[in-house]
Amino acid sequence: MKVPYFDLKTQYAGLRGEILEAVDRVCRNASFSLGDEVAAFEKEFAAYCEAKHCIALNSGTSALHLALLAAGVGPGDEVITSPNTFIATAEAIAYTGAKIVFVDIDPLNSNIDPQLAERAITPRTKAILPIHLYGRPADMDALEKIARPHKLALIEDACQAHGARFRGRRVGALGNSGAFSFYPSKNLGAYGEAGALVTNEDRVAEYCRAARSHGEAHRYFHDFIGYNYRMEGFQGAVLRVKLRHLDEWSANRKALAQRYHRQLGAARLDMPQDDPRDECAYHLFVVYVDKRDSVKQQLEERGIGTAVHYPRPLHLQKALANLGYRAGDFPDAERACERALALPFFPEMTEEQVDYVADSIMEITGKR
Ligand SMILES: Cc1ncc(COP(=O)(O)O)c(C=O)c1O
Repeated sequence: MKVPYFDLKTQYAGLRGEILEAVDRVCRNASFSLGDEVAAFEKEFAAYCEAKHCIALNSGTSALHLALLAAGVGPGDEVITSPNTFIATAEAIAYTGAKIVFVDIDPLNSNIDPQLAERAITPRTKAILPIHLYGRPADMDALEKIARPHKLALIEDACQAHGARFRGRRVGALGNSGAFSFYPSKNLGAYGEAGALVTNEDRVAEYCRAARSHGEAHRYFHDFIGYNYRMEGFQGAVLRVKLRHLDEWSANRKALAQRYHRQLGAARLDMPQDDPRDECAYHLFVVYVDKRDSVKQQLEERGIGTAVHYPRPLHLQKALANLGYRAGDFPDAERACERALALPFFPEMTEEQVDYVADSIMEITGKR
C-alpha cells in the first residue's frame, strides 16, 4: 500500500467546481489585491476564530511581524519564545530589532514551558510568543498569569492551529493578537501564500490594517512607513470556499488522530499528549522515536511518506548563531528535534491507511 505524507490533489478534486467559480469571480471583478472576497473572508474568519477583527495578509510570517510591531516591540526589547518551531517565529522577532530569548519546551506537549518563560523575564522583556505546535494549544492561562503583572504582550503563533480550542475558547485572540498561516499545506490552506492576524483590540486592528498597506490611512496618504503585506484577491476567494469545509476536515483529522492514538498509545509509542480540556487542531501527527532517520527510511521502503518537523531547533541554526546559544541549552527541544517524526496525515486519509502506517511503525520499532 502507498500512503503519501500529504495529499492536496484529492482535496482539490472534490472542490474544483467551487474553486473555479470563486477564482472566476475575482477575475470578473478584477479585484486582485484585497477587494470584496478578501473583505468577506476577513469577516468569516474573524467569526470562525470568535475574534472581533481579522486582518488578511500575505503570510503568517507577516502576521507575526505586525503582531509584534503592534505590541510596540522594537530594538532593545526582548521577546520570549521556544526553539522547537519553524524559523518564521524567530525571524519575526528579529525583523523588529528585538532580541530573541529562547526557553525550553514542556516535553509532554512540545509547547513552551510557562515556568521557564517566567524565569526568563527581565526588565527588557516586552512580549511572550507561544506557538501552538502541531495544532496543540499552549497553556494560555499560565502564560496570561505570568504576562499580566509584568505588562507583557502575549502573541500567539497559531499558524498551525486553525480552530483549536483552549479551555473551550478558540485560539488566536486569547492574548493580544494571534498569527495564522494559510500556507497551502496548513489545515486551512490557500492556493499560494497567505496569512492573517486576529485580535479583539481595536487599536491593534487599526494599526495592522494600515501597516499591511504602506501605512496608508487613505489612498496615497501615509501616516507611517508600512509594508506591502496585503492578501491577494484569489487567496481570499479560495480561502472562503475552503473555510466552509474546515469543520468537516477538522472532524476527519480528529477521528484519524484518535485512531492513530489508540493503536500507537497501546504500543507505548512516545508522542505529544493532549489535554482533555482542550481541542487540538491536529495539524500534524507526530511521534517520537529513537533512531528516527532509520525508522523514516524503513517506512519509506514500505511506501509510507513521512516528514521531520523540525530536524534542528532554532537555537542551533546557523542563521541565529549570533544569539550565542549552544547544544545542551534546551535539552527537551533538542531531544524532540532528534526524535520527532510526522506520520502521513490529511483529512482524506482512509482508516486502512492509518492502520497500515500504525502497524508498520510498531513493527519497525518493535513496539507491539
Ligand atoms: C509555527 C509556524 N509559524 C510561522 C509560520 C509562517 O507562516 P508562513 O509560511 O505563512 O509565513 C509557519 C508556517 O509555515 C508555522 O508553521
